[in-house]
Amino acid sequence: MSKKIIAPSLLASDFANLQRDIEMVNQSEADWFHLDIMDGVFVPNISFGMPVIKAIAEHAKKPLDTHLMIVDPDRYIKTFASLGVHHLSVHYEACPHLHRTLQAIKAEGMKAGVAINPHTSINLLEDPIQDIDIVVVMSVNPGFGGQSFIENTFQKVQDLKNLIDRKNSKALIEIDGGVNATNAKKLVDFGADVLVAGSFVFKSDNPTKTIKKLKEEIA
Ligand code: DX5
Ligand code: ZN
Repeated sequence: MSKKIIAPSLLASDFANLQRDIEMVNQSEADWFHLDIMDGVFVPNISFGMPVIKAIAEHAKKPLDTHLMIVDPDRYIKTFASLGVHHLSVHYEACPHLHRTLQAIKAEGMKAGVAINPHTSINLLEDPIQDIDIVVVMSVNPGFGGQSFIENTFQKVQDLKNLIDRKNSKALIEIDGGVNATNAKKLVDFGADVLVAGSFVFKSDNPTKTIKKLKEEIA
């Protein structure tokens, strides 16, 4: 079985001590950094943008897994590539020409991800699944950290895993929102490859140990 991945979300880090928190992730057993970009239009919140990503990229020593919660993401694909982003995930609900968007992301040398909201059916990925490197299954409504995990996610992961296997796709399944030590193992058992964890890591007393604990849960 392939190695399972933990991606701490910097949305829950201390922005006044961002370099410290980045170094913590660098030194930890975490695999990727998860960056949440919100525009106040697609989601009812604004997070951070290009100058902050540039600063993160200067210190981060692990892949930058970037989750765009923005309308019309095509406008910024080249910019994100130039900032050193490794994976770029767009929302299914924000992309009327998803195939074109995915090709544009890959043309810039990045892995192409598609995030789906909790109400969006896995069946809608039947056609594009071959073109997707990462499916980000939202296990909360996007826009905020610290929300409760939506239990229906387990069923969605199972359905997605079946679709990926049936279509011979190589897409990774990433779960985003409300991930903790209680649901991590079950998510992986259902087929998840990547777990994003924000609050559970950064609001804990010892984030390094919490990452280690999550890795052990899913090993
Ligand atoms: C939500 C973001 C998540 C968020 C996860 O819109 O996409 O990545 O940071 O945070 P937690 O783990 O606190 O739910
Ligand atoms: Zn996210």
